This record gives sequence, structure tokens and C-alpha cells, in this order.
Amino acid sequence: MTDRKTNLSHHTLLLGVMGDPIGHSKSPAMHNIALEASGIPGMYVPLHVKPEQLGEAVAGTKALGFSGFNVTIPHKVEMMKLMDELDESAICCGAVNTVVIKDGKLKGYNTDGIGYVRSLKEELNSELSGKHITILGAGGAARGVVYALLREEPASVTIINRTVDKAEQLATEFSHDTLQVQSGSYDTLDKVLPQTDILINTTSIGMSPNNEETPLEQSQIPEGIVVSDLIYNPLETRFLREAKSRGCTVVGGLGMFVYQGAYAYEYWTGQSAPVSVMRSALLEAMN
Ligand code: ATR
Repeated sequence: MTDRKTNLSHHTLLLGVMGDPIGHSKSPAMHNIALEASGIPGMYVPLHVKPEQLGEAVAGTKALGFSGFNVTIPHKVEMMKLMDELDESAICCGAVNTVVIKDGKLKGYNTDGIGYVRSLKEELNSELSGKHITILGAGGAARGVVYALLREEPASVTIINRTVDKAEQLATEFSHDTLQVQSGSYDTLDKVLPQTDILINTTSIGMSPNNEETPLEQSQIPEGIVVSDLIYNPLETRFLREAKSRGCTVVGGLGMFVYQGAYAYEYWTGQSAPVSVMRSALLEAMN
């Protein structure tokens, strides 16, 4: 393997991730290995940016010749205001997780939802058209997932949330002529689940350190359907473990993280992302 330091020059592709805090981010490990595997001279750095300095930090990346950066908590919504241009994905999600800097202009994207849907299709080795999909949760993560799912022409999408108003609001916003997105409370699941092909948890229930929490009782999970969780820490949530024991095909959240990064990488470099290398790097960084 070559010494990456010797490859650094004024041609080096400068990338990074802005967040507060940022020390926990696994994105640098994943992207640096991807750049190295593809032979692209580049460097992806963690950028610790406080909310009150976000504007200056963004202007700084432009001045320094960065090609782009990722955005994480707490800056995803605020970043919308700092862009010269917004992709439809960012507009629909109301949040930016990827910025591309080209010809001095900043363009904001959101690759979380489309990353998740790409990972779901890859892991199932199947299209999502014609499927009946039920989503638990109506927060920011659900919004990105609904946006991306609707591009796949599913037969139906139903959003279930503890706060029903939020589910209704999201459903109304995303409904269009050919598909009315449905919404309801957890009490309506008895009616919804028998028609469900794919059940997706977008809530934080079951996320580390609350590993023993789960959004549904095991007995409520229909047998033999697809069950997915956006959570990737732990890699297998209690929800997925119990779904497996009900004979379900399960898809965890690690792929979402890999593919949101893969889309960003492809926007920045114009090359396909080395997805399996990125997945291994991420797993290694998590251990
Ligand atoms: P994110 O951006 O990760 O989606 P969020 O916008 O805060 O985070 O949304 C969290 C989602 O998890 C919401 O749908 C929330 O339900 P409410 O809208 O009713 O708050 C859901 N959620 C979190 N904890 C929950 C719990 N203990 N029971 C049910 N739903 C929960």
C-alpha cells in the first residue's frame, strides 16, 4: 500500500464532515478507505463546527477549495439556508446531509433516504414497485425514507406514529395523484399489518444504549414479511431479532449508512463508490 501522505498535493480532493460533536463519526474512516481503494488522491476530515460558526465554516470550505462535505447533527436543517442551490432530495427532506462545491457554488443534497432505499433493494435483491409498505415513525428519518420510497412506485405507503398528527401531516405532504399516503396510530396496526409486505422502523426505539426496547411486540410482527430497521447500532436490534424468529427477512441500518455515503462519494468524484470496501471499513471502525 502506498503512503497516502506522499500523494498529497494541491490536486488533493478535499472532503469532510461537519458536526458538533464530530469525534464519533465513522464517515472519515469509510471515505478515506474508499478514496484509497479507488486510487483518488483525496482526504476526508472530521470538521468540528459549532452552530454559531456554521456560516463561516461553510464559507471557509469554499475558500479553501473543498469539493464537498457531509453534514451531520445538529447542522442538517440550518445548512439549507447556506446553499446556492438545493437538490429536490434536500427540499423534500427539509435537510441537507451532502454538499457538492463546484465552480464556487454550493449545492445541497439529502442522500439519507435514497441511500436507505438503495440498500433495501440491494439487500432484498428486489424492486419495491407494487409492495405494500408500512413505516413506523414520522420524524426526520421517516421523511427521507418516504420521499425515496415514493419514487419506487410502491402499491401503498402507510405511516404509523405515536403522535398521529405528525403522521397525517407527512402523509398529506407526500400524497400525490397516483398514490395517497395513509397514516394512523399504533392502534390501527391490526388492520394495516396483514396487508404489509415491508415493515420499516424509522424511530429511535431500540437504539443503543436502549437495546432492549422495541417498537412492536414480537407477536404483532406478521410472519414471513420483510422487516427493516434504520438503526445500525446495535447491528441487529431486538425488533429485527424477533422478526427473524417470526420467519421474516430482515434488513438492518448499516446499509443505509454505507449507501448515503456511496451517493455522496459518487456526487463528489463522478465515480462509482467501492461499496463493499466502505462497508468493511465501517464495520471495522465500529469495533
Ligand atoms: P429522526 O430525525 O431520527 O427521525 P425525530 O425527528 O426526533 O428523529 O423523530 C423520532 C421519531 O421516533 C418520531 O416519529 C417519534 O414519535 P413522536 O413523533 O410521537 O415523538 C418516534 N419515537 C421516538 N421515541 C418513541 C417512543 N418511545 N415511542 C414511540 N415513538 C417514538
